[in-house]
Amino acid sequence: MSKKVVLVGATGLVGKQLLPILQANDGVSEVTCLLRRPVNLGIEKARAHVVDFMNLDQSRNLFDGASAVICCIGTTMKVAKTREKFQIVDHYIPKVVARLAKETGIESYSLVSSLGANPLSGSFYLRVKGSIENELKKNGFHRLMIYRPSLLLGHREKKRFGELVMALFFRCFFWAIPKKYHPTDSFVLAKLMAEHALGFENGVHIFESSVIK
Ligand SMILES: NC(=O)c1ccc[n+]([C@@H]2O[C@H](COP(=O)([O-])OP(=O)(O)OC[C@H]3O[C@@H](n4cnc5c(N)ncnc54)[C@H](OP(=O)(O)O)[C@@H]3O)[C@@H](O)[C@H]2O)c1
Repeated sequence: MSKKVVLVGATGLVGKQLLPILQANDGVSEVTCLLRRPVNLGIEKARAHVVDFMNLDQSRNLFDGASAVICCIGTTMKVAKTREKFQIVDHYIPKVVARLAKETGIESYSLVSSLGANPLSGSFYLRVKGSIENELKKNGFHRLMIYRPSLLLGHREKKRFGELVMALFFRCFFWAIPKKYHPTDSFVLAKLMAEHALGFENGVHIFESSVIK
């Protein structure tokens, strides 16, 4: 039976990679994309829905009949500017999406977290990632897939200076850097996420950067 997938973050680096992969999969009937702005996704199976992420309960009907949620939303401190705004995107939204998914009977949730995610980390970013991971574990999904990529590589329309510098650094010194810190190909990550979202064994699965290959 073909499945409906709910995708959050469809316009991002990982989300954009996921769309054609899901489109090409015969097991997918529809990709319901929750967006904050109107976008032409240019993918036949994708249904773009502009939603109010601060009042997502109003869009509960969009989850009806779906089999899986893939959440690859995220921001940076540079864009968010305050810790509070950062937490809304990287913690509050994935958490509300998970609640709605659970309430509407969806049993598979996939989240892009980060290498080093840890609720006790000294880094605010990694603390937020670690705490959303823990939060999601409480939801009791049949399948919870958490991906912890390293620096994500892939084509971005708006280049990020920090990411370019880091990518160059890794290219020059990859031989001296432990494998788990090597950059993660966003296409490889998206392929793995799509595969798992459409069918994987029950349980909580954490994929460290070193296995996202
Ligand atoms: N980039 C890396 O190197 C890296 C490394 C490890 C982990 N990660 C994590 O991986 C995930 C995906 O990263 P990415 O690089 O694919 O992200 P990205 O390209 O920055 O895309 C982020 C997505 O989140 C959406 N978004 C951002 N702020 C939003 C808001 N306030 N309300 C609603 N939607 C919002 C964006 O929508 P718009 O298009 O409307 O802005 C976009 O769809 C993130 O959680 C990130 O923290 C990234």
